[in-house]
Amino acid sequence: MSGGQTIEVVVKAIEQVTPLIKHFQLASPRGEALPAFSGGSHVIVVMRGEARVHRNPYSLLSAPQNLDSYEIAVRRMDESRGGSHFMHDRLRVGSQLEIAHPVNLFGLDKIARKHLMIAGGIGITPFLAQLEDLHGGLVPYELHYSVRSAEHAAFLARLQAREQEHVHIYYDSENQVIDFEGLLSKQPLGTHVYVCGPAGFIGRVLDAARGCGWSPSHVHWEQFSAPPTGDVFQVQLARSMKKIVVPQDSTLLEAIEAAGVDVPYLCRGGVCGFCQSKVIECDGELLHYDHFLSDAEKAGGKTIMPCVSRARANHLVLDL
Ligand code: FES
Repeated sequence: MSGGQTIEVVVKAIEQVTPLIKHFQLASPRGEALPAFSGGSHVIVVMRGEARVHRNPYSLLSAPQNLDSYEIAVRRMDESRGGSHFMHDRLRVGSQLEIAHPVNLFGLDKIARKHLMIAGGIGITPFLAQLEDLHGGLVPYELHYSVRSAEHAAFLARLQAREQEHVHIYYDSENQVIDFEGLLSKQPLGTHVYVCGPAGFIGRVLDAARGCGWSPSHVHWEQFSAPPTGDVFQVQLARSMKKIVVPQDSTLLEAIEAAGVDVPYLCRGGVCGFCQSKVIECDGELLHYDHFLSDAEKAGGKTIMPCVSRARANHLVLDL
């Protein structure tokens, strides 16, 4: 997928569900069914501002059986490069948007004997659609949702209405914490664990799973890195013979796209590996922020994920 393939949608409804999170309902302007998806999928929302185009990934949280509309939730980020502010401040009911086709990088494992889902904060969103897939099925599941307080717990009523016996809520404000080791050490054979939330939260679950001897094949996580800002740098695109400047608050991928060069992508969050680009020359340091390349690949300096990573170099040449 690259910048060319999008679906037109119109904002059907907007709801402020917590002090920081807005919930959006998106539908076809012609009332057509939207493309099918499965729980855990995300879409890239294209936000065309005056100065720049943002393309951010958001998990679909609506029931996969309902293709009349998609639902997404967006947390307002203080450190936003502009995407979350655009969604919160610029969109109104009736606003037109483009989205990319849904992609699932966080699907439920089909052969799992049990699904153990662990969410932190806004990381609840992919699980809402997955719960719709699981509801009424034969595979046991449970969801553990850690959140700042009841006021910040998005979609609590939805969870409590449908999934009460499967859902465990933990409020930081009441000093309730998930005992990751305790939880992971008592699961039956064949359980798969899924975690989504802030980086530190995911890291603690992954550490606990490692410590409890979980096979990596049974541990799934999703975290789209918010691309960091950084120093301005220049890049030369060897095949398209372009020299571009990457501004402080723009990603390398956005700068390449703004120069009219298409790079394939799926997640734009350093997860999928689709945007991987070959580095031909670099006289400085590549700043890798992705979750895809191995430590050895990062140290090798031969490849970069332009959706999140940057460089501190005077001379950087990519094979694009
Ligand atoms: S688009 Fe997925 S890693 Fe860059």
